[in-house]
Amino acid sequence: MNDIKVGLIGFGNIGAGVVKLLRDNADVIRNKVGTGIVLKRIADLDITSDRGVAVDSLIMTTDVNEIFNDPEISVVIELIGGYEPAKSFVLKAIENGKHIVTANKALLALHGNDIYSAAARKGVEVQFEASVGGGIPVLTAIKSNLAANRFGSVFGIMNGTCNYILTRMTQEGADFAEVLQAAQDLGYAEPDPTFDIEGVDTAHKLAVLVSLCFGTRIDFNAIYTEGITSISGLDVKFAKEFGYRIKLLAIGKFCDGQVEARVHPTMIPLHNPLADVNGVFNAIRLTGDFVGPVMFYGRGAGQNPTASAIVGDLIGLARSIQAGAGRRMAPLGFLDASVTDLPIKPMAEIVSKYMLRFSALDKPGVLGAIAGSLGKHGISIESMVQTAHEADDSAPVPIVIMTHEAREGSIQLALSEIDQLDIICQKTAFIRIEDNLE
Ligand code: HSE
Repeated sequence: MNDIKVGLIGFGNIGAGVVKLLRDNADVIRNKVGTGIVLKRIADLDITSDRGVAVDSLIMTTDVNEIFNDPEISVVIELIGGYEPAKSFVLKAIENGKHIVTANKALLALHGNDIYSAAARKGVEVQFEASVGGGIPVLTAIKSNLAANRFGSVFGIMNGTCNYILTRMTQEGADFAEVLQAAQDLGYAEPDPTFDIEGVDTAHKLAVLVSLCFGTRIDFNAIYTEGITSISGLDVKFAKEFGYRIKLLAIGKFCDGQVEARVHPTMIPLHNPLADVNGVFNAIRLTGDFVGPVMFYGRGAGQNPTASAIVGDLIGLARSIQAGAGRRMAPLGFLDASVTDLPIKPMAEIVSKYMLRFSALDKPGVLGAIAGSLGKHGISIESMVQTAHEADDSAPVPIVIMTHEAREGSIQLALSEIDQLDIICQKTAFIRIEDNLE
């Protein structure tokens, strides 16, 4: 049998990991596929920098067309990241009949539908295991091993940068800005960490997961996305007092023909296994109607874990090619014609418990005014804490209220009313609580 010839577009840190893995584990791959998987061409604008791996300079090119137009290359790996030129390159490769392997969650979340349609027309596969959770094999599990299930929910911790920051804030009582700086100094956080800390990276991953679990196209802009930049040391401290941890969760649920898809800081009880997922680790939990709850845990980023997922996809494609199977599976696991357009539930309609942190003057009637407004909007109080003044009697005090389940629309109305009161000194902070994620 002939070797499988592959073209790589984008030779950065992850690309170097792929080169290393294909070299170091060539025997493992050959024992599983029956042939070699050979990088025939690598395209990048920079073909001279040292990436820490030895590459024959003859396979390097700045002209990506040398990959598109090479009839021997059957699979193209896209590792440029971002939207353009990644999208044009992927579409061009598909047009030329190449299977695609990509780690680009941003591209898939926003332009996946165009790419999947093009792949269906040309009868090629698009594989993207590395796009969610780095080396954690959750997408293949959803599409293959768990394919017999209807999924009710999929949720988890999908961004190592945010989880590292929240873990240190929880364990050390440190502040957000201080930990972010440390994470950048250690190279855990990107020099521009905006997509990570604002929750956008997590929302990209959720879009991919929700599409796979529920067989639906997703309007990425309809995913509610809130990052961790406004989480304060006080929030972490009060969450602890009530027996919770704060995590940046991506939450996907299917209910009555609608999908919930949201990313936000979430308080989860200590007994939830996700509460113990710390540092840069990721964990994804999902529930199928026959399998029940399943949880995946591991390194969600990094050169080696991500290369593991990419080469795993290559091996899957190599097996299909060797078997002459052509296009074995549509990108979402569902037949293209079975993919639907489920609506995303508006945030005002979601139901959750909440921790509300008021900053109020310590005067007679304050609690009454807050409780009155909550009651008027049908929000029931489960418990509350008020901290005593440390020094100055006229300084605001934090009043923290845990609610029973309420509609988010009611919470928003009540808080906009309460925040108008003279006795309230700052915009009220609130964090959603998920006690029963299954
Ligand atoms: N920057 C991401 C993280 C990894 O911090 O987990 C790539 O999605």
